[in-house]
Amino acid sequence: MDLENLSSKPLDKHIRRLPRVIIIGVKKCGTRALLEYLKLHPLIKAPGPEPRFFDRNYHRGLDWYRSMMPATKEHEITMEKTPRYFVSPDVPERIYNMSLNTKLVIVVRDPVIRALSDFTQAVSKHEVESNMIFRRRVLRRDGDINLHSSIVQTGIYVRYVTNWLKYFGSSNIHIVSGEELITNPLAVLETVQDFIGVEREIDGNLIFFNKTRGFPCIRILKRKRTSKCFGKTKGRNHVQTDSTTLKRLYDFYSPYNQYLFKVINKTFKWNIIQREQ
Ligand code: A3P
Repeated sequence: MDLENLSSKPLDKHIRRLPRVIIIGVKKCGTRALLEYLKLHPLIKAPGPEPRFFDRNYHRGLDWYRSMMPATKEHEITMEKTPRYFVSPDVPERIYNMSLNTKLVIVVRDPVIRALSDFTQAVSKHEVESNMIFRRRVLRRDGDINLHSSIVQTGIYVRYVTNWLKYFGSSNIHIVSGEELITNPLAVLETVQDFIGVEREIDGNLIFFNKTRGFPCIRILKRKRTSKCFGKTKGRNHVQTDSTTLKRLYDFYSPYNQYLFKVINKTFKWNIIQREQ
């Protein structure tokens, strides 16, 4: 037996490892769908629930965080998603302190539609009174934007992105379109797999558009070609609102969106959606 060679070659153990990739947000932009798609890749492993380590459970320490992760081999990629990280001011520095090489993925979506989605979820979880209307949450009585509303704040993406850029270079941050994740998930996944540094293995056999559901769903090849669509909490009908409220929000977000596009050197077609409203 070649003992020398054996000792210099560590065994590729199946152990829990800290994530190398984190989907940090944004809430209601498609973070669950992105993670579930990526888990179809044979080398990508992730826990089901959101660990919420860097914002809520930081006091538990890195060993606790590691214990939340699935066991992987060295060549496999551990990742997690916690959308709350994106808007939490202390989290960029905390992730940087864990590893400055962490790769971060951000899903963004038209911030007005994101706000409607967030509000719809809050109503369904009874976090706001059922008779509370969207307009009253996002606008003040005098018709100005309610800057205190977290539903409004979250959509000012550039404000948060600039905080992340203080700690991570743009080569460590990959931003994808939540709209494209629905209309062309395979194209988005190609860019994400390239960014993560794994072979492109997620293809049209695994993800298909389900016309009845109106969204892409996952084909489970192992179980005689059954499929899995996301549950009722993903892709639901949004609460209705009036066109004045929508216009106010679009006008409010417009300069922030333009600033974001400059900062990330990438443009999303949210203004076209605005004209179509
Ligand atoms: P809506 O429910 O407003 O349509 P998150 O997982 O970050 O909470 O995002 C939820 C959003 O993911 C949904 O918002 C939906 O638009 C989007 N989404 C993307 N792909 C989806 C899919 N395949 N099935 C259902 N929803 C999907």
